Amino acid sequence: MPDSGPRTKAERIAVIPGDGIGIEVTREAVKVLETLKRVCGLPLELVAFDWGAERYLKDGVTLPPDALEMFRREFRAILIGAVGDPRVPSNVHAADILLGIRAGLDLYVNYRPARLLDARLCPLKNRRSEDVNIHIFRENTEGAYAGLGGVFKPGTLDEVGVQEDVNTRKGVERILIHAFEFARQRGLKRLVMSDKSNAMPYAHGLWQRTFAEIRARYADVESRHIFVDALAMELVRDPSQFQVIVTNNLFGDILSDLASQLAGGIGLAPSANLHPGRVSMFEPVHGSAPALAGKNLANPMGAILAAGLMLDYLGHSDAARRVELAVERAVQENAVTPDLGGTFTTSQAGDWICDRL
Ligand code: NAD
Ligand code: IPM
Ligand code: MN
Repeated sequence: MPDSGPRTKAERIAVIPGDGIGIEVTREAVKVLETLKRVCGLPLELVAFDWGAERYLKDGVTLPPDALEMFRREFRAILIGAVGDPRVPSNVHAADILLGIRAGLDLYVNYRPARLLDARLCPLKNRRSEDVNIHIFRENTEGAYAGLGGVFKPGTLDEVGVQEDVNTRKGVERILIHAFEFARQRGLKRLVMSDKSNAMPYAHGLWQRTFAEIRARYADVESRHIFVDALAMELVRDPSQFQVIVTNNLFGDILSDLASQLAGGIGLAPSANLHPGRVSMFEPVHGSAPALAGKNLANPMGAILAAGLMLDYLGHSDAARRVELAVERAVQENAVTPDLGGTFTTSQAGDWICDRL
């Protein structure tokens, strides 16, 4: 690079491999980013953090108290693998790290796309690849995840467990607006809002009222409401009717695992935890899969596609597109791990993708 003229400021990315296969798939996502640094000259600086079960068991650290402030001050994005370990039965470290970052950085959008890259991976009969292309928007800071509740008389026969479904006007409104804006910008015509307001009129009546108000501003998007039980059924019966789905934290968690299978499997599913304009976090949808860990057989594609979503968020749309195309080719040419019927190891699948970048 010539000395004259402004240098591109390094974009710092925090990398948290976490636990189990999180460590293995993150290694491949990092390989992809390092390759793109070389090929496209991306100004990324990756900084690793060892937070996870091992660290927690060693010295009790989960998410250090200054971590959130450090992310806000010094980082553009966070790439996380997965957290969860059977040696920590309560998974308190995972709640602190994953849910702690989502809530602490107010990452109110959890975007989980499910696109079928090759028709033969769909578990449904007679589906074309264009039949599954769904963008799920999961509210990511409240609902059943707000942490409001408690136990009474724990460990006795009179034990009581309460966990509130917390829905705020602000929280519901901003995720709805984000989903509608996404639909409008992508030229997508169909949006579904899903709740369970028939059984939970207090918590989800708020979704109904807010939806009625917001959808009136988006006459160009055809929007409708479906109760979440019916939506689960309809997703399996005919996924091609859905483009954008917006729902609460818990239902979004469940529906995104379901949608991942329609698109070929959980190992392929990426997600983005966003607060537009602020430091945001990217991760595969899957967990740490303890039984699969240490075998070099986990599918790294969800993590690699999550890195792609991160690049797109950072404005490197060309590099992001390369990632997507390379993964698509790997799937079509069967350069895949056993979960997708292939014989590649995690690292071979990552290498194959790097070679195509
Ligand atoms: P999981 O996603 O880890 O595993 C579910 C199933 O999918 C298992 O059969 C697993 O082998 C398979 N699988 C998952 N990812 C795969 C991949 N990349 N390649 C091939 N197969 C894959 O979900 P779980 O079993 O419910 O949870 C295990 C642990 O992970 C728990 O502690 C849970 O809390 C945690 N978890 C963490 C995250 C996260 O950090 N984002 C997400 C989900 C679950
Ligand atoms: C996910 C996970 C987490 C969630 C768990 C690990 C708390 O399932 O990211 O989908 O429920 O959000
Ligand atoms: Mn989940």
